[in-house]
Amino acid sequence: MKQANILITGATGHIGTTLAKQLSAQGIPFRAMVRTTDNNVNALAALPGAEIVTGDFNDANSLALALKGIERAFLLTNSSEAAEKLQSNFVTAAVKSGLPHIVKLSQLHADAQSPVRFLRYHAAVEEKIRVSGMAYTFLRPNLFMQGLLGFRETIASQNKFFATAGDAPISVVDTRDIAAIAAAALTGNGHEGNTYDITGPQSLTHAALAETLSNALGRTIRYINVTAAELLPALLHAGFPAWQAEGLIEDYAHYARGEAAAVSSAVMDITGRPARDFAAFAGEYAPAFT
Ligand SMILES: NC(=O)c1ccc[n+]([C@@H]2O[C@H](COP(=O)([O-])OP(=O)(O)OC[C@H]3O[C@@H](n4cnc5c(N)ncnc54)[C@H](OP(=O)(O)O)[C@@H]3O)[C@@H](O)[C@H]2O)c1
Repeated sequence: MKQANILITGATGHIGTTLAKQLSAQGIPFRAMVRTTDNNVNALAALPGAEIVTGDFNDANSLALALKGIERAFLLTNSSEAAEKLQSNFVTAAVKSGLPHIVKLSQLHADAQSPVRFLRYHAAVEEKIRVSGMAYTFLRPNLFMQGLLGFRETIASQNKFFATAGDAPISVVDTRDIAAIAAAALTGNGHEGNTYDITGPQSLTHAALAETLSNALGRTIRYINVTAAELLPALLHAGFPAWQAEGLIEDYAHYARGEAAAVSSAVMDITGRPARDFAAFAGEYAPAFT
């Protein structure tokens, strides 16, 4: 197989892992950046076409090495207080290395003026990339269907999940479809300068998610709407750092205002396949909720 000229950062995460598998299945070599090979990276390293490089967004030298010979790079971190700085470090390193094209995982409605901190940091990184002059593609997905796995403990033990989404419809999206668009942007032509809003095929309330999940599991799952004042201590108790927990509250308030209901055709337009719907997700992931 020829030398990799695609770099995947966030390669041990949800989307990064899926993206690596998809490129591998298409016979496309890629370099996966991981913080340490101590983590469980064996499965990643075993994928045909995978080359593993150690790198940390806090370490400019490691980023320079990871970017050597790379033509297209996928940029992703988790959302933390450090995310804007970490991603900005990568953009700086990418400019220095002469990277021709960056594909950044952002979020639907990224906006410097947003009341949601996640949307502000994504907008700040997008702007840094825009002014850098390198070619870019911004992927702006809506709420991940796989995010429901974060509720699996209460779903399995109490047949309930709790959030502050109210009765607002949200066009939730399967992370495999986001990865498929990332793969297209990293390997195909004509994605330069584009921003893709990425959603599922329908807009569903959390009560509707619960109903569909109930059908898939064969038992009744209920969505319990709580207040932000009730949710925040639960998130902190679950171990979320304060910055992230408060960010999730802001994010869910944005959903509850009905601002993430629109459905886009990006998955079909770019991959040629319909976006996976929530019923299919619930059926496939049912064992995880039992
Ligand atoms: N959840 C949603 O519904 C939703 C919706 C829209 C957009 N998003 C966006 O999706 C992104 C998260 O995607 P995800 O769920 O795939 O992420 P994830 O599973 O949390 O993975 C994060 C990745 O970033 C890596 N990372 C973190 N800090 C690093 C550092 N200093 N150096 C090198 N690597 C580092 C992690 O490596 P380690 O394994 O070493 O920690 C991991 O591979 C966020 O930007 C979020 O805003 C999420």
